[in-house]
Amino acid sequence: MKESVLFERVILGSTEEAKDIILQLVNLSAYFCESRIVKNINLAIEKNKVTSIMGPSGCGKTTLIRCINRMHEMSPGGTTKGEILLYGKDINNMNAIEVRKKIGMVFQRPNPFPTMTIYENVIAGFILNGIRLPKNIMDEIVEDSLSKAALWDEVKHNLGKRGIYLSGGQQQRLCIARALAMKPDVLLLDEPTSALDPKATAKIEELIVQLKESVTILIVTHNIAQAARVSDNTAFLYLGELVEYEPTKKLFTIPRDKRTEEYLTGKYG
Ligand SMILES: Nc1ncnc2c1ncn2[C@@H]1O[C@H](COP(=O)(O)OP(=O)(O)OP(=O)(O)O)[C@@H](O)[C@H]1O
Ligand SMILES: [Mg+2]
Repeated sequence: MKESVLFERVILGSTEEAKDIILQLVNLSAYFCESRIVKNINLAIEKNKVTSIMGPSGCGKTTLIRCINRMHEMSPGGTTKGEILLYGKDINNMNAIEVRKKIGMVFQRPNPFPTMTIYENVIAGFILNGIRLPKNIMDEIVEDSLSKAALWDEVKHNLGKRGIYLSGGQQQRLCIARALAMKPDVLLLDEPTSALDPKATAKIEELIVQLKESVTILIVTHNIAQAARVSDNTAFLYLGELVEYEPTKKLFTIPRDKRTEEYLTGKYG
C-alpha cells in the first residue's frame, strides 16, 4: 500500500498540526542484552523531508537507525520494544528482507562490494536476492540509480570497472545508487560523509537535498553545520533519549532544552 497516511505528529508527547508522516517510532527502546541503549523514543518522520539525528558519540544514534531497517536484531543480544510504523504498518510484522528493500541504508565508510564492477554494485541487491531481470531492465535501473546518485556522468564509460577503484566520494555515491536501485521509501544514512573530504562532502550534501523529492531521508550526523545545511527537521538524542525534535531552524535558533543548547555550543564535543 503506497498511499500516505496522516498521523498526528508526536513530539515528546505533545501534538502539533497533522503532517504527512511516513515513519513513526512509538515507544521504541533498543537493547544489547540487558542494557537499554535507546530509550522509549517517539518520533514521527515527515515524508519527502530530510531529518537529522544528532547527538554526542555513544548516545545511540547508530543503534536507533539500525532498528529502523531491522538490522539491530542481527547484532548479538540486539532486541527492541515498541513499534516502528511504515505507512502505519509495523515493520516488525513484515518480512525483514522486504523491510530492507523499502528502508535502505548507507554506512559511514563507503562499502562497495570489492569484487563487483560498478554496474554489478548498483544491482547488487537484485543479484544477492537471486532476482533475475532482463538485461535492458537492469541497464535502465543502473543508469537511473547512478543518475539519481549524481554519479552517472562520471562513470558511464567505465561501468565494467571495479567499484573500489573509485574515489571515496564516488564510492559513497555508488553505495547511495545501490540503495536507490531497490526503490526505497526511506533512506537511512549513518554519518555518510565522515570519511570524506570537504569537496566530496559538499557533493553528497547537495545530493541529499535533491534526493528528498523522491525518497525520505534520515541522516545521522555528528556535524552540527551539516544538520543545519541539509535537514528540514532535527532530533537531538542524548544518552539514548530523545531530548528535542523540531524543525531544524527552530531547534538551532531557540533550543527548548538546556542539553540541546549545550550540545550546539560545543559543550559535549
Ligand atoms: N554490538 C554492541 N554490543 C553491545 N553494546 C553496543 C554494541 N554496539 C554499540 N553498543 C553500545 O551502545 C551505545 C550506543 O552506541 P551507538 O553506536 O548507537 O552510538 P552512536 O551515537 O552511533 O555513537 P557514534 O557517534 O560514536 O557513532 C554505546 O554505549 C555502545 O557502547
Ligand atoms: Mg554511530
